[in-house]
Order: sequence, then structure tokens, then C-alpha cells
Amino acid sequence: MLRRLYHDQPASFAFTPANRAWAEAQITKYPEGRQASAIIPLLWRAQEQEGWLTRPAIEYVADMLGMAYMRALEVASFYFMFQLQPVGSVAHFQICGTTTCMICGAEDLVAVCRDKIADKPHTLSADGKFSWEEVECLGSCANAPMAQIGKDYYEDLTAARLAEIIDELAAGKVPVPGPQNGRYASEPLSGLTSLKEMDSGKTQYNASVQLAVDIGDTIKRIDGTEVPLTAPWQGGAVKQTPRASKPAAAKAPVPDEAQKIGKPPVKPSATPTPEAGAGTKPQTMKAPREAGADNLKLIKGVGPKLEAMLHKMGFFHFDQIAKWSAAEVAWVDENLEGFKGRVTRDDWVAQATVLAEGGETDFSNRAKKGEV
Ligand code: FES
Repeated sequence: MLRRLYHDQPASFAFTPANRAWAEAQITKYPEGRQASAIIPLLWRAQEQEGWLTRPAIEYVADMLGMAYMRALEVASFYFMFQLQPVGSVAHFQICGTTTCMICGAEDLVAVCRDKIADKPHTLSADGKFSWEEVECLGSCANAPMAQIGKDYYEDLTAARLAEIIDELAAGKVPVPGPQNGRYASEPLSGLTSLKEMDSGKTQYNASVQLAVDIGDTIKRIDGTEVPLTAPWQGGAVKQTPRASKPAAAKAPVPDEAQKIGKPPVKPSATPTPEAGAGTKPQTMKAPREAGADNLKLIKGVGPKLEAMLHKMGFFHFDQIAKWSAAEVAWVDENLEGFKGRVTRDDWVAQATVLAEGGETDFSNRAKKGEV
């Protein structure tokens, strides 16, 4: 199937404050220079926010990660999980049309979608609530035919049951996912023939369905209201910063003819804008001392990009960093755009203290030998 950007695109995109904070926290999972690794979760979050992946959203995410727009589009257009056109406001149906499901009645399910949703896939129903598409094997062949609706699987479907499910969703209900023919999971329809002792003590639904029911987000999209939005690798809940509430589309380059997908983007400035927020701004210098700046890349976690960022902020020497108090560390951590939390994560102060005194760390030793 040809996967292209939709012909009718919105003018802009910006993460909600909560989603922006979450996205910035995701980026900190990856080492410097590898921010692009966060592309899939960020695109997914953008899709969750809007329902589908718009061109401004793809470009917004690319800007956040310092990627060429074309690279981000390649990811968005490669994975079928990304919807490049509007989907139903209530639910998008993905009907498995691969061999097992096809043999067991997938064509009948597609006929229901054509009849009740829209004649063509990737087309909104008349009321805008639903859309559908045929997809390749979803790995639930033992429960064929099946469909993914929102985030969950509806298995052992018949045309009649799928029609009912559409009606129930239209009425504001969320049918219980999983097998729709009375099976617990993928055991024989006539009942267990072995491992019968496993039958006792089971939950009301099989584990996948039980979780789906417990979470209750089958057709609900992530909208930032989930509590808590956590960043466990940072040791707790992500913080929403004042910057997060600023629509980033306003600071992103305005798309024009020269910035079509495929052309290198105008990258956002790497210069962080000091702003009000957590902590206290440390004392800065306008320029390095006469002997020149220290090689801040000898601090583990500081690469060329972060070093340049530190210079622009007014930090050139190990002894500057060694003196940062906890409040100052918090300020710098907060203002390292795209690298928030790095000072604490790699304990720059301890490293800088050793280096400022003329000592060596294991990392600085290896860096000098060119091993890192
Ligand atoms: S063939 Fe449909 S889930 Fe595998």
C-alpha cells in the first residue's frame, strides 16, 4: 500500500504541556548524539494526541530531535502503526486479512466495514466516528478471524458480532476485547484437553483481556491526563516546565516551499534560553580565561553538542562546574534543552571536581587515549 502524507494538513502542531514534558523526558533515555532514537515514542505520542500523524507533527518531532524532516517521514511512513490520514474519532478498525483470518472469514468482516463504516479503507464514516483498514497478520491466528480496534484485539469474530461491536461503540460502550465466541483464550472451543488443572484460579478474562479491561484504554487515546506520567530513569514523575506549555510550533521553523519534506530542516538553535524555573542560575563567564577553555568533553556525558551548549550558557571550566550547588545543578539540568537531567545523571560536579584539581577519572583517562 502506498503510504503518503494526507492531502489536507493542519497548519501547525504542538504537544500539550504534559506530552511535551513526557517527550523531553523520553529523550533523556538516550546518550548524546542519539536523540533520534526517541523518534518512535515521540511520533506515537503525537499520534495519540491528534489521532493521526500530521505533517506538522512529524516536522515538530523531527525538530525536537534535530533530525532532517525526511528521516522522520521515513519512519512515519514505514510503520503501519502510524496513521497518515485522519481516523475515526471513536475508533479505527484494523481487520486482519492474512491467510488464517482470510480462510476463517476476514472478507465477511471487511464487508461489514464497507457497509457500516465506509466503502473504502482509510475513509471516515459519515458521522466521523469510525474508519477501517485491512492489515497483515496481527499474530492472533489461533483466534481467527480477528481485528484490532483501538489498542485491543477482538478475536473469533463473525460478521454479525463485528456489526454489533460497531453499534455498541457508536452507542458509547466499549465491548470487552478478546475472544467473542465464549473461548477464554485460544484453547479448543470444545474445552481443555490437557493442563486442566490450570483451569482453576484463573481471572475472569485471560491475561491480555483482563489487563485491557483493568486499564480501560481500548479506544481511549493517551491525552496527558494519565497519572502519573513517569520517567523512572529520572527517578520519578516528569516535571512540566514553563517551556513545555509554550506551543513549540511557534518556535519551530515555519514550513515554506524551501522546507518541504525532504529538504534539510532549519534546525532549532542549540542555545538554551535561560528561563525561570527550578533552581538557581550559577555564575557564568562571558568567555573562557586566557589559557582557553577546559576540554569539557572529558566529563562523562558531555559530548561536542553539550560542550557547545555549555559554552553558550557561559561555562568553560571544570572549576565552574565543580562549584555548582544542588540548586545550581537543578537550574542547569532544567535548562539543557534536549538533555535535561544530564548533570545529575552523570554526576558532573563530582567528575569536574577531580578534573579541576588536576586529577583523572576513569572516563577522562579513556577519553584521552581515544577509547571513548
Ligand atoms: S492471520 Fe490474522 S492474526 Fe494471523
